[in-house]
Amino acid sequence: MKKTDLKNLLNDMSLEEKIMQLVQIPGYELEQDAAVTGLSDKASSDRVKKLAGSTLGVWGAEKAIALQKRHMKNHPHHIPLLLMLDVIHGHKTVFPCPLGQGATFDPEVARKGAEIQAKEAASEGVHVTFSPMADLSRDARWGRVLESTGEDKFLNGKMISAMVEGYQGKSLKDKEHVASCIKHFAAYGGAEAGRDYTNVELSEHTLREQYLPAYEEGIKAGARLVMTSFNTLNGIPSSGNKYLMRDILRKDMKFKGVLISDWAAIAEMVSWGFAEDMKEASRLAMEAGVDIDMCTACYSGNLKALVKEGKVSEKLLDEAVMRVLELKNDLGLFEDPFRGASVEKSLEVCLCDEHRKVARDAVRKSLVLLENKDNALPLSSKKVAFIGPYADEKKIHSSWAISGNPDTNVTIKEAAEELFGKSDVKVKFAKGCNMLLDKTDLGYGVAKEKDKDNKALIEEAVKAAKWADEVVLCLGEEIGQSGESTSRVDIRIPVPQKELFDAVSAIKNKKIVTLIFNGRPLVLDDIPEKSSALLICWRPGTEGGHGILDVLSGAYSPSGKLSMSFPYAVGQEPLHYDHYNTGRPKPLEGASIFSSRYLDCPNEARYPFGYGLTYSKFEVSGIKLSKKKLSKDAAVAKGVKKASEADHIKASVTVKNIGDVTATETLQLYIRDISGSRVRPVKELKGFEKVTLASGKSAKVTFTIDEPMLRFFTINNKFESEPGRFTAFIGTDSETDNSAEFELV
Ligand code: BGC
Repeated sequence: MKKTDLKNLLNDMSLEEKIMQLVQIPGYELEQDAAVTGLSDKASSDRVKKLAGSTLGVWGAEKAIALQKRHMKNHPHHIPLLLMLDVIHGHKTVFPCPLGQGATFDPEVARKGAEIQAKEAASEGVHVTFSPMADLSRDARWGRVLESTGEDKFLNGKMISAMVEGYQGKSLKDKEHVASCIKHFAAYGGAEAGRDYTNVELSEHTLREQYLPAYEEGIKAGARLVMTSFNTLNGIPSSGNKYLMRDILRKDMKFKGVLISDWAAIAEMVSWGFAEDMKEASRLAMEAGVDIDMCTACYSGNLKALVKEGKVSEKLLDEAVMRVLELKNDLGLFEDPFRGASVEKSLEVCLCDEHRKVARDAVRKSLVLLENKDNALPLSSKKVAFIGPYADEKKIHSSWAISGNPDTNVTIKEAAEELFGKSDVKVKFAKGCNMLLDKTDLGYGVAKEKDKDNKALIEEAVKAAKWADEVVLCLGEEIGQSGESTSRVDIRIPVPQKELFDAVSAIKNKKIVTLIFNGRPLVLDDIPEKSSALLICWRPGTEGGHGILDVLSGAYSPSGKLSMSFPYAVGQEPLHYDHYNTGRPKPLEGASIFSSRYLDCPNEARYPFGYGLTYSKFEVSGIKLSKKKLSKDAAVAKGVKKASEADHIKASVTVKNIGDVTATETLQLYIRDISGSRVRPVKELKGFEKVTLASGKSAKVTFTIDEPMLRFFTINNKFESEPGRFTAFIGTDSETDNSAEFELV
């Protein structure tokens, strides 16, 4: 439809019709087996159902087509319904959870995954995915870190923009793509004490420098929607935060698309004590520029009166409605309301071999090897026992893979039987213990008395372990322990699993390879010391078993790097590598009494951001800088001129594979600004590059350092660089001290 036709349509709509374009109703009110990702207080009336502009949680080609037909027939202007869904890390083919994708340090993995998710979802009638989540995640207590690509703004920005491009493709008219919604704006990950839905207190410079960049990268990549967050930011709920939405999102970030509230977030402004009632909440949300009210009766029940009373101008309303109509139009829904929905297509693409292959590759690239003593991995014996609740568990996706089917997931057992079935390697499997102490308690639980059932399972497991030359212990969080509303104050593996670990690791001289399935960094207690090898598997999705066996067998050398730091103790949270130095930094060796330290725990992460081993060893040379001084070109700084070669420093290292096998290492560039008008982090990631080298081979890796890279939110409350000394670090994790100094003049 042409823009003028859209305008004519808008002019022709009644006030009620316009308002209802801003109303989203839950899919379960329209379809029986829709996903339930939230609950509404009150069912929508038939009138609202008839006129609503969008719904969420419905997929399936046949269902989507029938629903659209019904809806358009009943709608006075036959305006198509927008179908939205949380396709977070997979529709039918499920990829590793976003935290695992972050660990690939490979935006191409995210892009390809998003492309496939879009293709599958579009074939099942979905128009919009509520993904990616760009929330910076530094607190492992928060269950939603699973949905984020991690603790670093730079890495997140790269992954988020790749996902947006993957979902949306070049044009939304292309029916194999869907519109992408960046969420949750803003700073949802900064929730106090890691507790979901709560308050966030952030200074302006931390917000701008740390929290906002990844959302902005997604917006720059063209994301068509943004979702508000549940939290308050410095006392103001996001859905009523005019400064955040109008000034920062729309003005500074130039976002032109549709802003949708999170589920019931407009109504929740009443519970927060920010709005007197739903009517006031609706006015505040409209003023902040929230276009769609997700799943409450706020807009449907109050906007008419607000407009009639002159409290919300019709102009404001029209602007919001127009944004929704434009999105529908850009998706091509006025010409083809069924868009990509097709039973044949969905049968052809969903879970097809090609998609599974890409997912398998994503799994192996996401796995992070934390320990590998005496080259315990790859497996090398003829008798292997796979023990633990994850040895044959189908639920290896996450609670956010809502449209996936766990039956299609490949378990460790299935993959191991496939791999070793025809070989002379003998395998045994044992459940080993219960997943949780109490199935109704997803927390850590308290071992009141020894679980009898667990004891019997452990005895059987110990027998299998004694039989084997190598034991693969498959442990981790239960699926419901991470995701939305799953904050935890104890982030260890569940009690029965620790009991299993203790029993098996007590067997003398046994090679134990521990696999951890997790949606967040965990406190690992003595697991690293007592394991010969330790592999972080995240929530790997459909091809989990295959991807993991590729690594265990040595067909693929692990290449993943931690996207979030793993702590020694939960008391260290929030924990992130890019902290400030303090005026009294703890000395590297020992600790002086009056230094910034814990009495009972190191300051550092147990395993830092960016860390991960391969099956080989790499040597990284000292850094060579092409020059020591970088000139600050005022024209470049103002953005009127692009930085040229002359304004760059090339920082290079030579990396050599000194081990025995071909492997991929990830070189990471960090920069420290030695002093600034506001204190600066001890290190900030500014670049990364993966290199694959055969044994004995070396390569030169070069990063470009330019002035824009050195900008931060200065004392002048704007992004600019400040002349002075800087340190560049290039290494294989965030604790590298391989460095060289340069100056900005
Ligand atoms: C979550 C969002 C999600 C929405 C719709 C909310 O509870 O916070 O991330 O997109 O539900 O399912």
